[in-house]
Amino acid sequence: MLVGTTQATDYLLQTKGLRVEFSGARTVRAVDGVSLEIRPREILGLVGESGSGKTVFSLSILRLIRPPGKIKQGPVLWCGRDLLELSEDEMRPLRGSEIAMIFQNPQASLNPVRSVGVQVSAVIRLHTKCDQAAAKQETLRWFEAVRIAEPERVYGAYPHECSGGMCQRILIAMALACRPKLLIADEATASLDVTIQAQIMDLLLEIREKYGTAILLVSHDLGVIARMCDRIAVMYRGRIVELAEAKDLYLSPQHPYTQLLLRSVPVPDPLHRPERSADGNDSAGVPLPLGQGCRYRGRCPEALPECVEQDPVLAEVRTGSHLVACIRRQEEAGRETQRNLDGEPEVVPTTSFPLSAETRAEARLAGEVSHRSKE
Ligand SMILES: Nc1ncnc2c1ncn2[C@@H]1O[C@H](COP(=O)(O)OP(=O)(O)O)[C@@H](O)[C@H]1O
Ligand code: SF4
Ligand SMILES: [Mg+2]
Repeated sequence: MLVGTTQATDYLLQTKGLRVEFSGARTVRAVDGVSLEIRPREILGLVGESGSGKTVFSLSILRLIRPPGKIKQGPVLWCGRDLLELSEDEMRPLRGSEIAMIFQNPQASLNPVRSVGVQVSAVIRLHTKCDQAAAKQETLRWFEAVRIAEPERVYGAYPHECSGGMCQRILIAMALACRPKLLIADEATASLDVTIQAQIMDLLLEIREKYGTAILLVSHDLGVIARMCDRIAVMYRGRIVELAEAKDLYLSPQHPYTQLLLRSVPVPDPLHRPERSADGNDSAGVPLPLGQGCRYRGRCPEALPECVEQDPVLAEVRTGSHLVACIRRQEEAGRETQRNLDGEPEVVPTTSFPLSAETRAEARLAGEVSHRSKE
């Protein structure tokens, strides 16, 4: 192994060109060529408006897509092993014990006719084969770990007797009790009050620190997850359109859609009025049919004529770890590179998502033209 190179097994999870379709009168490509990786202990944010494919992506990792949905293309590598090639019997024990998931509506995720303690104990017994008394002790220990006051009392409570925040803590305890390496939290705080939301987020941070659990934090709200994440992937209509370190994405968002998402994040200064997008449309709007060209072009205030024909691919624009799928940004990066030719090293994309030769040539040409016109 060369020093400094990254091996597939350095990642806990790696999807490569993952594609999931729902067939029907019109086939919907809910996830369309998503390549993402999650490292051990990493908190990766996955953000995008409702319907962008976040839940379908998350469920595909666990192979929980039901007909008419189908995973059409992978792989989904878990510690280097392709989950799509496992039998259902091989896959089942992996769910929960290695990859666990918590959802948006915690109360609905619990069985209403069994006490919450018994439900957590049952999961522990299923995975560890310990006896009832040991499972109860383990449950109480996890209740304490997720900061449930009076664990003994809560053990015997039914879901309807617990608040939403309490139910989410119980589900987190249930997920952690099997010591997964990856926790997928899909809109896990969306139904909770703001203060409870913050407490659950703090708890997730604490869990990563204490147990080293990697977390895929899925949300439609960049404001809620930004402070938590190491890296953030922005999803739009089944594609990742921007992927960067959280601070780079927050301080220097590149894709027009990410910029729009960030403008929608409430700011504490009451005198600060966020600008609206140039098209005045910061809701989902009417999406263009998929096909040729950038799928954001119908809403994009910066669209170029070539955005109608070219399908932008994810490529480096600022640093090696800041990737954007936007023709305009890639052209700008090309011009920047051209200006740097006097003495400074050229920045050539080196990731697994390179610019196509044509796009790079066009970007360089555009840079050269603008460079010469200044002479
Ligand atoms: N059961 C289903 N049947 C048909 N299409 C579905 C189904 N579930 C999801 N989809 C399609 O997948 C898209 C992405 O859904 P989803 O992953 O739930 O979005 P998100 O979690 O980002 O809000 C939806 O817009 C829809 O077109
Ligand atoms: S590729 Fe074009 S349409 Fe798409 S986001 Fe970039 S500038 Fe806008
Ligand atoms: Mg969802």
